[in-house]
Amino acid sequence: MRELLTQENLEIILDYVSDGIQAIDKKGNIIYCNRTSAMLDDINREDAIGRHVLSIYPSLKKETSTLLKVVETGISIFNAEQTYTNYRGKKITTVNSTLPIKLKGEIVGAIEISRNITDVKALSEKLVDLQNKIYGGKDKKRTESDEAKYTFEDIIGNSKELLKVKSLAMKAAQTVSPILVYGDTGTGKELLVQAIHNAGLRRSKSFVAQNCAALPANLLEGILFGTVKGSFTGADNRPGLFEVADGGTLFLDEINSMPLELQAKLLRVLQDGRIRRVGDIKTTKVNVRVIAATNIDPALAVQKGCLRRDLYYRLNTITIGLPDLKDRKEDIPLLTEHFIKKYNKLLYRNVKGISSEVASIFQSYHWPGNVRELEHVIEGAMNIIDGDIIALDYLPENLIEFHRETGVEAQTEDLPLKTAVENLEKKLIIKALKKSNHNISRAASLLDIPRQTLQYKIKKYRL
Ligand SMILES: Nc1ncnc2c1ncn2[C@@H]1O[C@H](COP(=O)(O)OP(=O)(O)OP(=O)(O)O)[C@@H](O)[C@H]1O
Ligand SMILES: [Mg+2]
Repeated sequence: MRELLTQENLEIILDYVSDGIQAIDKKGNIIYCNRTSAMLDDINREDAIGRHVLSIYPSLKKETSTLLKVVETGISIFNAEQTYTNYRGKKITTVNSTLPIKLKGEIVGAIEISRNITDVKALSEKLVDLQNKIYGGKDKKRTESDEAKYTFEDIIGNSKELLKVKSLAMKAAQTVSPILVYGDTGTGKELLVQAIHNAGLRRSKSFVAQNCAALPANLLEGILFGTVKGSFTGADNRPGLFEVADGGTLFLDEINSMPLELQAKLLRVLQDGRIRRVGDIKTTKVNVRVIAATNIDPALAVQKGCLRRDLYYRLNTITIGLPDLKDRKEDIPLLTEHFIKKYNKLLYRNVKGISSEVASIFQSYHWPGNVRELEHVIEGAMNIIDGDIIALDYLPENLIEFHRETGVEAQTEDLPLKTAVENLEKKLIIKALKKSNHNISRAASLLDIPRQTLQYKIKKYRL
């Protein structure tokens, strides 16, 4: 393998990487540039190699070029956003990671890996502009609550775990403190947050949601706090989501993915209620209720170092944990009924319910995707169903597989003798097939039955 990685082969490989890669020597002269990087900057590679980095990027200065900074300091820079004008005058925004190149402990150059986020940035800014337009700026009220559409009535479930969550959330809706919601994927965090907004005093004001894992750090900062026009940042005057959500609620999803230094800035805003746009010197007062969410236990997120302890304490005034579906299985029949009703309407069906076999699978399955997974299972079945009862055949492959492997014990107790015997038979056949690597003759001899009998049974049980 090693012999294959000659310099020539490596260069060919690097040319197919979708990130731009560029390296300079100690003096700042470009010594390497892959195809993506050349395309990004619209430069001719042959012309660029050997030239000083600042002569290729006239909009950069010694202080603003991350490559030069790293050569000088020897300290790596990770995920830094950089906006510059390329050789042909096009404005490009990249996220760069820059590392020193060392030889025998001495810095001899630097290498930079850049991801082009020009389009992502333009899109996210457009989104904020649109949100701003919809909500009519910070002083105007929204007329209808079209963003946060869910209310507490939409949160289905009667288990004591869920009722506890609902009652705590209803109380929280009447207060002004920030709220921290946590729960595994698909447990209903977004649903709950929207319901809280719609039950509180801010229901007629804007509800703005931002996923903190979706954007790189610097871009997220601009999106949250806004930007002012500046040549260095390349930004325009733009309000951030805090201004857009003024008077209303800002839902910061996956806050544990927000870079720590931005978490510190967020904490400051929560403490003094003032935001400073990126590149601005003045601060502006905002009145926003922040609801944050994590998909892991926040105390664990603190322990792991992805949630700042001080921010956690600030957000922790009201913490609401959503239970996994496997820990409130008594809600499954209600949820099933709810989703069948929903998709009967949406898909023009007339499904009446689920078979008892499916009901028992739903009860024994562990639902790693929680309520969302249950909803998708029902939606999927209702797309392909012929009759009016959701039977085993309409379930996705992973659930059928789960049933094959575990179904027997879960079901034997209350089943008629014939079904229980059949289930056991199925299980033994599957075991033999697995053992024999799906060799039917060998499986038949393991089970001590004729090959034809096994073939008939495989067909019968659709194994
Ligand atoms: N208690 C519930 N009653 C009715 N529908 C629910 C309930 N909980 C979740 N859902 C539905 O399940 C789906 C997932 O919910 P939601 O988007 O709120 O989950 P989430 O916790 O935000 O997940 P993720 O962490 O993956 O973003 C949605 O379609 C939502 O309507
Ligand atoms: Mg969510």
